[in-house]
Amino acid sequence: MSGSNPYRDDRGNKDASITRRGGEGTVDTTRRSGPIHPDPGGPFLIGENMTGGYGRNGPDILHDCTIAVDRGEIAVIVGPNGAGKSTGMKAVFGMLTLRQGHVKLDGQDITELTPQDRVAQGMGFVPQTSNIFTSMTVEENLEMGAFIRTDDFSSTMEQVYELFPILREKRRQPAGELSGGQRQQVAVGRALMTQPKVLMLDEPTAGVSPIVMDELFDRIIEVARTGISILMVEQNARQALAIADKGYVLVQGRNAYTGTGKELLADPEVRKSFLGG
Ligand SMILES: Nc1ncnc2c1ncn2[C@@H]1O[C@H](COP(=O)(O)OP(=O)(O)O)[C@@H](O)[C@H]1O
Ligand SMILES: [Mg+2]
Repeated sequence: MSGSNPYRDDRGNKDASITRRGGEGTVDTTRRSGPIHPDPGGPFLIGENMTGGYGRNGPDILHDCTIAVDRGEIAVIVGPNGAGKSTGMKAVFGMLTLRQGHVKLDGQDITELTPQDRVAQGMGFVPQTSNIFTSMTVEENLEMGAFIRTDDFSSTMEQVYELFPILREKRRQPAGELSGGQRQQVAVGRALMTQPKVLMLDEPTAGVSPIVMDELFDRIIEVARTGISILMVEQNARQALAIADKGYVLVQGRNAYTGTGKELLADPEVRKSFLGG
């Protein structure tokens, strides 16, 4: 089985900030949420003028970086490897202490909230790596996704199965036995189980074929049409910007270009430097 799946060995446990071998991440679990401040106006979700890096004394990775998404829209972050795209996503999700800047969700300043409390406020996050429990079945993964819910989540699971029919078929299989594209569906489905208002996806199409990528993008558009905002990092810049309401090009932790997806696709500088001409 393992030899037949090219994605099997390419995922998991590479991002030490999310999962360590010992099972302990760098997220400070002793940290308690601070207050939420009302701050009306602006986009639905915004990480604004974010400056910060890893750990207490690590160098700044983000420099005055701003990423945002409006209600029901798709915003896409692109840029070279190591530009700080994943770091920006983690900062917005509260996995990084900002030295400067704020994160605001639906008119509230949530900069002081822990990631757990951001989930309770309506944020869903699918990290770039280690985004499923490989030894658990597909259905158990979805159940894990519903961890903060105390109500009956069976109708949400039904919605996930309608969105991704293959997951219903494979619901009793360990998620680790699925193909790369199917695993990404599990990861997205898992995040949808909390009924988020905004879904953050870090490279949801990594390592999948162009056909599977198109299918995943179609499903993501479908999710956005239900009113869920999508903030997404993508390596497939051209295809992702084509479906983006808003696009951000990050370079070395800074905003290099910002515009609508169309504007960025048409920008000669962006094309030359980031879209292969
Ligand atoms: N957990 C971490 N601890 C320390 N530095 C990190 C960590 N994750 C990423 N970095 C550093 O932050 C920079 C940006 O990385 P990343 O946000 O992963 O870029 P991208 O997602 O755009 O490829 C890189 O220099 C990388 O080495
Ligand atoms: Mg990344």
